[in-house]
Amino acid sequence: MEISASILSVKEEESVHTFYRLELAHIDYYHIDVMDGKFVEKDTSELMKIYSDNLKNITSIPLDVHLMVEDVKKYVDIFSSNEPKSITFHLEAAKNKEEILELIKYIKQYSKVGISIKPNTNVEEVYEYLPLVHSVLVMTVEPGKGGQKLIQETIEKIRKLKEYIEKNNLDTEIEADGGIGLDNIKELKDAGLDIAVVGTSLINAKDYKYTVNKLKSI
Ligand code: DX5
Ligand code: ZN
Repeated sequence: MEISASILSVKEEESVHTFYRLELAHIDYYHIDVMDGKFVEKDTSELMKIYSDNLKNITSIPLDVHLMVEDVKKYVDIFSSNEPKSITFHLEAAKNKEEILELIKYIKQYSKVGISIKPNTNVEEVYEYLPLVHSVLVMTVEPGKGGQKLIQETIEKIRKLKEYIEKNNLDTEIEADGGIGLDNIKELKDAGLDIAVVGTSLINAKDYKYTVNKLKSI
């Protein structure tokens, strides 16, 4: 299982030092949470662009961009210049199947594609797109802010999705995002998680290397 570190709650004045500590801890990805003030209340787009530009200058660890935005193409255009490994958009941001297919194709010009679902969206809704995308990002909290508690029912969605992927011989990866830490990582792994997005429980930890190793080995 891989660790994608969410830098949403990294303080600007501490960012250089925090990124340095994350580098030494050998995270697998930097998770960039882009919010537009419309799809969710907060607007983090400017700060996340600054962080992405900074990271591109100092790291070879890939960027994992999570777009919590209404106008997906607009933000793909902005963040694709940072050459992320993957760009994930929300199923709920598109109005119909045609738009979803169009967005998948659009993102594929630049990077791998992920599709994300909010806690109240049924996992069956992504099934038809699984052969076309590289990953599904299952939100384990309501998108919008860090530091929330994982919604227990979402783990069942991961289990169901994993079963479907295996049954159909697909190679889509499952990523989960929100409220993940040492207390629930085992359960998520057992459910079939491939990539864990970890925000506050890592950023607030004293020892990053210990926490990353522990999350991976538990
Ligand atoms: C929530 C974001 C998450 C989140 C992760 O809208 O997509 O990436 O901030 O942070 P924690 O681990 O604190 O929930
Ligand atoms: Zn996220």
